[in-house]
Amino acid sequence: MATYDLVVIGTGPGGYVCAIRAAQLGLKVAVVEKNATLGGTCLNVGCMPSKALLHASELFEEAGHSFAKMGIGVSAPKLDLPAMMNFKQQGIDGNVKGVEYLMKKNKIDVLVGKGKILGTGKVEVTGADGKATSVEAKSIVIASGSAVAQLKGIEIDEKRVVSSTGALSLDKVPGKLIVVGAGVIGLELGSVWRRLGAEVTVVEFLDRILPGMDGEVVKQFQRILEKQGFAFKLGAKVTGVDTSGAKLAVKVEAAAGGNPETLEADVVLVAIGRVPYTEGLGLKEAGVALDERGRVVIDDHFATSLKGVYAIGDVVRGPMLAHKAEDEGVAVAELIAGKAGHVNYDVIPGVVYTTPEVSSVGKTEEDLKQAGVAYTVGKFPFTANGRSKVNQTTDGFVKILADAKTDRVLGVHIIGREAGEMIHEAAVLMEFGGSAEDLARTCHAHPTRSEAIKEAALTVGKRAIHM
Ligand code: FAD
Ligand code: NAI
Repeated sequence: MATYDLVVIGTGPGGYVCAIRAAQLGLKVAVVEKNATLGGTCLNVGCMPSKALLHASELFEEAGHSFAKMGIGVSAPKLDLPAMMNFKQQGIDGNVKGVEYLMKKNKIDVLVGKGKILGTGKVEVTGADGKATSVEAKSIVIASGSAVAQLKGIEIDEKRVVSSTGALSLDKVPGKLIVVGAGVIGLELGSVWRRLGAEVTVVEFLDRILPGMDGEVVKQFQRILEKQGFAFKLGAKVTGVDTSGAKLAVKVEAAAGGNPETLEADVVLVAIGRVPYTEGLGLKEAGVALDERGRVVIDDHFATSLKGVYAIGDVVRGPMLAHKAEDEGVAVAELIAGKAGHVNYDVIPGVVYTTPEVSSVGKTEEDLKQAGVAYTVGKFPFTANGRSKVNQTTDGFVKILADAKTDRVLGVHIIGREAGEMIHEAAVLMEFGGSAEDLARTCHAHPTRSEAIKEAALTVGKRAIHM
């Protein structure tokens, strides 16, 4: 029987990064993957394909709407959807091959098949042919990720009623797309298909979009999305989809019940969240505890209730984000190798990759109010930022929340082009416990959109220059 220091189940960003870090630290490592390709949700049906389509569809829209005003004369862009899907697939393949290369480079064995934990130190791997082999491991890391949350009574066929996976591979642009859930997936993939020509209506249970993000940012974001053509039905739920006709008949009613109406759609995207995935891992029999939401319970060092078994990523508590999974992968590998692994959950950025982008790190105003923390707000709009003005991309603003007594930055929220890239200077500042004054006194290159962050920091001290 093959013996390893560490066996990682799952090769998403949590699992493969964990395996690499452990191998760097001298451990003999294997990964177990049931899918045909490595990389998990993120590389195959998540972050990467969605960003490829967001990029391509954004340029498609720009070519149709923004080129002329810059003096670039092109004929109306024509959509070649199979070619765009091929562009997406090439991106997936490139990244998946990259992970395969990294496994080889770090001498990590890839065990193809479904992993099951038989007890401390023992993993069974069952291949597609049904043949099972067992391996021994001093430590086991569960990095099995998450799956799409289902909407009761609505069957996802991935053709007309789709999850994000089907929405990344539609073979034609739907005339009418109804998105259930105004979360990150709904708004990103809704944006892709709206830009390509779909009429998009988003049905959201709550009375706001993007729950958890800063309320003021989200209000402006919703207005911008509406200007782009999104329609929102907030405080509403989908109670059924009749698939018997040529068009889907989507039953919608108020979240609290009542006010029923039927909307017509070509495609319905169900994007109401994701749930931890533990099917077939044998956790109950092995004695690995789950919480009431089906997540693997871990302590501060990622240890589960079973000795020598750890868990990270989407399958445990915390935001379901690839970079959070990666950082946990590194931390648990370091802990297993006897080092001091650590993740700072107060500084995990979040980005919505729409146009404009929305990004955030740290506390929102709502969080601070609820915690009774006295804070100062510094805001700076892109309409007053020189680079944004010349590029005529002035939607949005930067908002900095600093502790009223100490000036320490507690949260930064940005809506605007490239917000997803800009957020990281705030993350670094916060990781070092920096203040708004530190940010305001840091020289920023001119002309950049990042100068808006400096100006927002100056605004905390009521001394912005360009406003
Ligand atoms: P996963 O990536 O889900 O990987 C788990 C792996 O484990 C899978 O390969 C699975 O096959 C394997 N596995 C499970 N059980 C077994 C078993 N028993 N045996 C063998 N293998 C097993 N996050 C971001 O940060 N940024 C984004 O832009 C972003 N975009 C997204 C877009 C979409 C459409 C979706 C759906 C998600 C997106 N996410 C994004 C979320 C991100 O994909 C996840 O947070 C991330 O993939 C979690 O990593 P993970 O390693 O925990 O699990
Ligand atoms: P989400 O949790 O972001 O949003 C789900 C939305 O659906 C919420 O607004 C919720 O109130 C709503 N909802 C729930 N039940 C509903 C119902 N019955 N009817 C109507 N609305 C309902 O989940 P989403 O968008 O599915 O994404 C899943 C995960 O993937 C998220 O945790 C996210 O972190 C991750 N992801 C991250 C991305 C990024 O970082 N850019 C991109 C895409 C996904």
